[in-house]
Amino acid sequence: MSEFINAKVDNGVAWVEINRPKALNALNFQVLKELGDCLENLKKDESVRALVIKGAGDKAFVAGADIGEMKDISPTEAKGFSKLGQKIFMEIENYPVPTIALINGYALGGGCELAIACDMRIAADNANLGTPEITLGVIPGFGGTKRLTKLVGDAVAKELMFTGRMMPAEEAYNRGLVNKVVSTDELEAEGGKLASKIADKSGVVMNLLKEVSTKQAELSSEQGMIMESSAFSICFTTQDQKEGMAAFLEKREPEFVDR
Ligand code: CAA
Repeated sequence: MSEFINAKVDNGVAWVEINRPKALNALNFQVLKELGDCLENLKKDESVRALVIKGAGDKAFVAGADIGEMKDISPTEAKGFSKLGQKIFMEIENYPVPTIALINGYALGGGCELAIACDMRIAADNANLGTPEITLGVIPGFGGTKRLTKLVGDAVAKELMFTGRMMPAEEAYNRGLVNKVVSTDELEAEGGKLASKIADKSGVVMNLLKEVSTKQAELSSEQGMIMESSAFSICFTTQDQKEGMAAFLEKREPEFVDR
């Protein structure tokens, strides 16, 4: 039984909602644990082709790790908490299907780190992203120092982390931190549209593409090319490659069977 995470699967799209709106969906140990368990369970559902993560309520995606819970923990407990968040967010980065964060309102600290562990981000025009940890006397602990730099470059990442300022949606779009900005009313529909566009492709080939494109950042050019050509070749063992190319030549829509 999950107290803080709602999940449903609809037409190949898994929707995961962090549901603790009174605390702006702040991530305490229980929320993180439930999120990890939920994602693990969804992995077993072969109908899932895309994953959308959102926050409940109209004020926040997630306003960070839970400050009340962290205030009096020991350095050893802090390390454990950081490792737990890093592990779950790494699982999201390596999730077999593409992932999308829908950012409504605040995505701060651990919330920003959750959003940037996803493959893509759509922000509502009321979104504010940032890493205010420094203002609390700590540093990002759920992968932010690594992923933020990768996404927006060293200078912008350091400015955000060193000042703790919030970046509004439009600037986040201009900096490449989010893929798109839409009105608050459109956020969910826009997320659904993007997820459906992904979900109607071949699942088996999408899994390969997700793995190869995610791993590229860690590999040398040579290793990256080897991984790409191996995966490209595996595509040609699938029925979906035959169907996709036949459908193009026959001028019809493909009917993928995920094999
Ligand atoms: N942890 C715990 N509770 C939080 C929270 C957080 N990160 N963020 C908000 N809340 C709680 C508030 O304490 C408040 O609870 P009460 O109603 O019981 O007082 C409730 O959510 C609503 O928040 P506010 O009254 O503060 O709402 P606001 O509209 O005035 O301000 C805000 C919104 C600017 C997001 C402000 O809440 C804020 O600054 N929150 C903290 C953001 C932050 O510093 N996040 C980083 C946390 S550290 C971290 O994440 C470390 C890591 O990398 C692992």
